[in-house]
Amino acid sequence: MNIEAPKALKGMSLLGVTGVHHWTDRTFSFTCERPQGFRFRSGEFVMIGLMVDDKPLLRAYSIASPNWAEELEFYSIKVADGPLTSRLQHLKPGDQVVMRPKPVGTLVHDALRPGRRLFLFSTGTGIAPFASVIRDPETYEKFEQVILTHTCREVRELDYGLDLVAAIRGDELLSELVGDKLLHIATTTRQESPRMGRMTDWIRDGRLAEAAGGPLDPDTDRVMICGSMAMLQEHKALCLEAGMEEGSNSEPGDFVIEKAFVD
Ligand code: A2P
Repeated sequence: MNIEAPKALKGMSLLGVTGVHHWTDRTFSFTCERPQGFRFRSGEFVMIGLMVDDKPLLRAYSIASPNWAEELEFYSIKVADGPLTSRLQHLKPGDQVVMRPKPVGTLVHDALRPGRRLFLFSTGTGIAPFASVIRDPETYEKFEQVILTHTCREVRELDYGLDLVAAIRGDELLSELVGDKLLHIATTTRQESPRMGRMTDWIRDGRLAEAAGGPLDPDTDRVMICGSMAMLQEHKALCLEAGMEEGSNSEPGDFVIEKAFVD
């Protein structure tokens, strides 16, 4: 839907919220209208937020929906004193969000060289861009195996990813496309669950190699990483150690990183 924007919104779109889901007391997701003609590559982020005192208050948010979807989906943390999320967490269907429709980002296929396995390492709400990537048919055209890892402190924080993968498997078209190519490894670090530990530790001690059928190999594997600054640095170091090169939109490489939304 294309909505006429007031002057203060020059170049931005006001979008109606169509759904809100609270996953835990720390996370929620929402869907909103997609502006007509708005195109993005799966994995990219946009500036989105609210009008506060007649001014747009925007933050970078990964688009969690795939590029073919009719609506846009976002997955967010709630920060009690965060300027935006303290307000955004109270969104209800029918409210409006404001978006600058200029998608950017490095967690995109264009920034990676061709490969056979695609590793998507995420923690917390860092799973958002990968929610887009794993629902994009191009991902399965380009890679033989896609390994999504999601590490959170507590068990319920894994629900977003578990529901997402269950929905893919339950979708007639997507499930046919994805087949058995998608492996989802969900772990916790501070609460008991079937799989525990940081993925960086899984890489070092061989648990990931065992689950995925071999250690990280720069000849065949490509990696996207999204999480906190500390997590990015540690995963990046492991990629470099494995002999991989960092990629960008202008110069595709073996791995790409992006910070998850923080406030
Ligand atoms: P841990 O509980 O051991 O700190 P956060 O909410 O702080 O961003 O953490 C989300 C998840 O990311 C937690 O499970 C946390 O584990 C994990 N994590 C934090 N730092 C790193 C890191 N440097 N490398 C890998 N995982 C990390």
